Amino acid sequence: MANKVVITGTGLYAPPSKISNEELVNSFNAYVDNFNQQNKAAIEKGELTPLEYSSASFIEKASGIHNRYVIEKQGILDPLRMRPHIKARSDDEQSIQCEMACQAIHQALDHAQKTPQEVDCVIVSCANIQRSYPGMAMEIQHYMGMQGYGYDMTVACSSTTFALANAYHAIASGQNRCVVVVNPEITSGHVDFRDRDSHFIFGDICTAIVLENADSAKRTGFEILGTKLLTSFSNNIRNNSGFLNHAEMDDNSPPPRYCFRQNGRKVFKEVIPLVQEHILAHLADLKLNANAVKRYWLHQANINMNELIIKKVLGRDALPHEAPIILHEYANTASCGSIVSFHLNHHDLKKDDVGLICSFGAGYSIGSLIVQKQ
Ligand SMILES: CC(C)(COP(=O)(O)OP(=O)(O)OC[C@H]1O[C@@H](n2cnc3c(N)ncnc32)[C@H](O)[C@@H]1OP(=O)(O)O)[C@@H](O)C(=O)NCCC(=O)NCCS
Repeated sequence: MANKVVITGTGLYAPPSKISNEELVNSFNAYVDNFNQQNKAAIEKGELTPLEYSSASFIEKASGIHNRYVIEKQGILDPLRMRPHIKARSDDEQSIQCEMACQAIHQALDHAQKTPQEVDCVIVSCANIQRSYPGMAMEIQHYMGMQGYGYDMTVACSSTTFALANAYHAIASGQNRCVVVVNPEITSGHVDFRDRDSHFIFGDICTAIVLENADSAKRTGFEILGTKLLTSFSNNIRNNSGFLNHAEMDDNSPPPRYCFRQNGRKVFKEVIPLVQEHILAHLADLKLNANAVKRYWLHQANINMNELIIKKVLGRDALPHEAPIILHEYANTASCGSIVSFHLNHHDLKKDDVGLICSFGAGYSIGSLIVQKQ
C-alpha cells in the first residue's frame, strides 16, 4: 500500500530590495527618452519607430502587480543598464541560488520540526537554474549538511508542482522518507527590462516545501490526496538561453537577447481553458465538487486570468479568501506563485478542509495537487 504523504513545512525568502511600479516606470521612461533622443534622426526619417512610455496604472490594471522584490535594484533602475548587477562568484564561493535556497529551506525545516540530516532528497525546481552542473541541489545538500541525493529540474512556471509530484511519488513508494523541494527564482535575470510588454511582470523569491511520510512527521500538515500534470507544446512563452548560444552566433552578429518573451494575449486566451479543464478533471478524479474545495492556491501571473479561471471552475465569482492573490506584493514569481499563496494563506483552514494548488505557465505546463488539512 502507498505511504501517506504530508506537507509539513513551508518557507519563503524574499530579497530585501523592492521596486514599486512607479520606480520601475520612471526608469523605463527615462530609457525611452534616451533611446528616442539618440535615434531622433532615424525616427524623423521614418526608419525607426519611437519607443512608447510605460505606465504604472496600465501595469496595475493589466496584471494586479504593485511591487516586486529583486536581488539587486540599482542596475535594474539604471536607464543606461536595465538589468541587475549580480557579481560573478568564484567556484569556491556559495552560489547565489544556493544562498537563497538555504534561507528558505531553514524556515521550512523549522516549520516541519525537522533537521537537515533527516532529509533524504532535495529537488531544486525553478524556471531558471544558474548553471548546468554541478547540480544546484548537490551544492545545497553540501551547505545544509543533508544526506541522500538531490537533483535539479525545470518545467518553467510549473517547476514546483512537477517537483512536488516527483517528491510525492518517491515518498508514497517508499523510496524516500523526507524530501525538500526548493525554488530559487531569480526572475530578474531573465527579464528584458527594456521591453515595455514584459518589464513589469516578474519578481525574485525563493520558496521551500517539506514533504514526508506521515508516519515520521512531527507535526500535522496537509496530506496530499493526488497530483495531476499536463503539458502541451506552445511557442507563446519562450526563452532561448542555453549552452548552445555562443556556438549559434554568427562571427559578426551582435549578441542576441536571451530573455523571457511572450505573446501575452494568446497565453491569456489559450491557457485559461486548459487550466479550467485540468482543475475540473483533477477534482473529478477524486470525486470532489469544485465548490467543496475550501481554498485554491493558484499560479500568480495575472489577476484577471486568476479571476476568470476560478469563476469558470466554480461557476460563480470567487470570494477573495477562496483564491488568494499575492501579485500586488510579489508580482509573478514564476514557479513559486502558488506556493507563496499557500504559505501565506493556509493557517485558518480546519481539519479535513480540502484545497488545491495549481501552477500554469510556459510549455504550456499545468500541475496540480489536491491536499487535505490533517
Ligand atoms: C502580459 C499582459 C499583462 C498584458 O496585458 P494585455 O491586456 O494583454 O495587454 P496588451 O499587450 O494586449 O496591450 C494592451 C494595450 O496596452 C499597451 N501596453 C502594453 N504594455 C504597456 C505598458 N507597459 N504600459 C502602458 N501601456 C502598455 C499596448 O500597447 C496596448 O495598447 P493598444 O490597445 O493601444 O494597442 C497579459 O496579456 C497577460 O497577463 N497574459 C498572460 C500572461 C501569463 O500568464 N504568462 C505566463 C508567464 S509565466
